[in-house]
Amino acid sequence: MPLFASHQAPTPDKILRVMQAFREDERPDKIDLGVGVYRTPDGKTPILRAVKTAEQRLIDGQTTKGYVGLAGDPTFHTAVRDLVLGPAVPAERIAALATPGGTGAVRQAFELVKLARPAARVWTSAPTWPNHEAILDTLAMPWRPYRYYCPETGGIDRAGLLEDLSRTETGDVVLLHGCCHNPTGADLTLDDWDAIATILNARGAVPMVDLAYQGFGQGVETDVAGLRRLVSAVPEALITVSASKNFGLYRDRVGLVLTVCDTARAATAVQGTLAWLNRQSYAFPPDHGARVVTEILGDASLRADWEAELDGMRERVVAMRLALSDALRAESGSDRFSFLQAHNGMFTLLPATSDQVATLRRDHAVYMIDDGRINLAGLTPDTVAPAARAIASVLG
Ligand code: LMR
Repeated sequence: MPLFASHQAPTPDKILRVMQAFREDERPDKIDLGVGVYRTPDGKTPILRAVKTAEQRLIDGQTTKGYVGLAGDPTFHTAVRDLVLGPAVPAERIAALATPGGTGAVRQAFELVKLARPAARVWTSAPTWPNHEAILDTLAMPWRPYRYYCPETGGIDRAGLLEDLSRTETGDVVLLHGCCHNPTGADLTLDDWDAIATILNARGAVPMVDLAYQGFGQGVETDVAGLRRLVSAVPEALITVSASKNFGLYRDRVGLVLTVCDTARAATAVQGTLAWLNRQSYAFPPDHGARVVTEILGDASLRADWEAELDGMRERVVAMRLALSDALRAESGSDRFSFLQAHNGMFTLLPATSDQVATLRRDHAVYMIDDGRINLAGLTPDTVAPAARAIASVLG
C-alpha cells in the first residue's frame, strides 16, 4: 500500500481559506479585508525605504553567507530586545532565539514550554489568532480559552478575563497579545496589564505575549508600555516577536523568542535549550531579514526613517478605521458600529454571522474572515463607501 494512498490534507485555516477565495474571485471591484497585511491605497504591500537601503548595504558589504549561530545573530537579539523590552528586564535574565517569522517564534516558545513542563496548559484569549490554537493542537498541548472580548460592547470583558485568569494554576501559561489584538482590535489598558501581572503572580502562572503589530496601535513605544510593565513585575515570561508587519518583511520570515527567566543562571540554561530547539527543526534560522532589522535599528537615520514610514502606515490605517466608522454610521443610521473607533491596529471584529460573511462575499465581493474580522489596511478611500454600504445592508 503506498504511503500516501489514502492521504487527506488538513483543512486550511479560516485566514488561508479567505486568501485563496479572494485570489480566485475574478470580479474587478472585489475588496480584500481578509489576511492581515498592510496595503497602500493602491493595494500594494510595499518594501519600506529603510529596508531597501539596509538590503543594499548588505548586498554591497556582506562577504560571506556562512552559518550564523543556531540561535541567530546576537546583535539581532539585542536590537529587537531593546526595541520591545527597553530597560524593563536586565539583559542577563533574557534568553533569545531567532526564528522564521513570528509563527516560528510561537512554535518554538510552545516547544520550550512543553519541554520544560510536559503537562503545561496554555490559556488563550477568546477569540485569538487561529494559528495559536492550531499549533497547540499540533503539539498535543492542552489549552483552554479565557474570556476576553465582549461582542455587545465591542470592548474587553474585563470581569470575565480576570475571573478566568484567577482560575489558572501554577505552571499554566497565559497567552496575551502585546498590542493590536488579533482578531478583535480591543486592547488591554495599562491598568489591565497591572491587574493581570498581579493575578498571574498570585497564581504562579507564566505570561506569554505575542507581539506582531508593534507600531500599528498608538506608536512604537506606547504599544509595548503594558508588556514592559508586565515583564518587569513577573519572574518569568515568554515574548514572541514578528517583524513581518512593522518592517514589512513578511516573506523574509523574521521572528524572535525572548524568554525572561527569574535568574541569569536559568537564562543561560534556557539559551542552550532554545538553540537546541532550532537545531531539531531547521538548524539555523534565516538571517537576511534579521540582519536588515538589525541594520535599521542600529543606524540612527535609518531607524528614524523606518519609524516615520511606520507612523505613516499606522495613520493610514487609523484614517480608514475612522472613515469606515463614519460611513457605517451614515449607512446604518445608528451608532452601532462606533466601537470601531476604540480599537487598535489593523483589525476589528464585526458582529457578523458566518452566513452574513458568506453573503458579503457572494453578493458584494467583500472578503473578511468567517468570524467577522476585517483588516482596515485593505480599505482605500475609494472602497470605504461600497464596503460600508455592503456591510450595513447585510448586517442590518
Ligand atoms: C493574519 O492574522 O491574517 C496574519 O497574521 C497572517 C497569518 O499568518 O495568519
